[in-house]
Amino acid sequence: MKVIPGPASKQLGEKIAELLNVKTISVTNRTFPDGESYVRLEDNLQNEEAAIVQTTNPPQDTHLLQLALLADAAKRNGATKVTAVTPYLAYARQDKIFLPGEALSLETIGRMLKAAGIDKMITVNIHQSNALTKFPFPTQEVSAIPLLAKYYKDKGNDKAFALAPDAGAIHIAEEARSILGGECGHLEKHRDRRTGQVTMSRQKLNVVGKTVVIFDDIISSGGTIVEAARTVKELGASKICVACVHPLLIEGANKRILEAGVEEIVGTDSVPSDVSKISLAPLIAKHLAG
Ligand code: R5P
Repeated sequence: MKVIPGPASKQLGEKIAELLNVKTISVTNRTFPDGESYVRLEDNLQNEEAAIVQTTNPPQDTHLLQLALLADAAKRNGATKVTAVTPYLAYARQDKIFLPGEALSLETIGRMLKAAGIDKMITVNIHQSNALTKFPFPTQEVSAIPLLAKYYKDKGNDKAFALAPDAGAIHIAEEARSILGGECGHLEKHRDRRTGQVTMSRQKLNVVGKTVVIFDDIISSGGTIVEAARTVKELGASKICVACVHPLLIEGANKRILEAGVEEIVGTDSVPSDVSKISLAPLIAKHLAG
């Protein structure tokens, strides 16, 4: 196998190749003056498998297209099988029709990538675990939650309360609790489908005087975490920290979160950011090695 580190995940791809002790194929990429993407593989694959490491954070459409172009280039240049390692899979939150007339974006992405030559995908903490069942190729989802929980445990936050911002993410909080060894629970979140505004209803949670770590898959605008932090502060938490797998952190989200009373935000290098203190490379390398 050879690893192709895509333009969106160059460092992560190189780390994975190093851990697997396999060669990488360098990619030349550029954007034409009209905005079109160009990619070129610097070497051939001689009847070998290829793993393309390319996350699809913003600009997600460009990163998705680069992934599709790289898959096409890999197949044309000798790859027998192409695995896409896409730590953050864009459009995963539109995994169903919420309002009449919408597109089912996630399924569209699956069909597009299949057509480009992708045979398998490894992704990390997809928004809804069963969302990829309709993808036209096998998918494997891995969880970075134990790594995030261990980060806080190693910093002395043993027995911290693991909190999910909504009921749909309780499995994340439960996974974190198994590492932190304390309690877990969730808030009730409501997002207005048209305005995107997040509101949170207060639950009875046993957080008085405790350290609370809020776990989520994605931080985008930060609205969810800001509301969750305010709510647990009102409920009496003494210290609030945040862990997320995919730190998109759009337009100053981390500043807003810290201003809401959060002491620390930690994320993974699924999306390169200021808070990406945990590398997914060992976890992904393990899964690629089978
Ligand atoms: C949605 O339910 C996800 O799990 C995240 O909570 C959400 O995507 C975060 O978005 P934002 O940071 O914009 O509130």
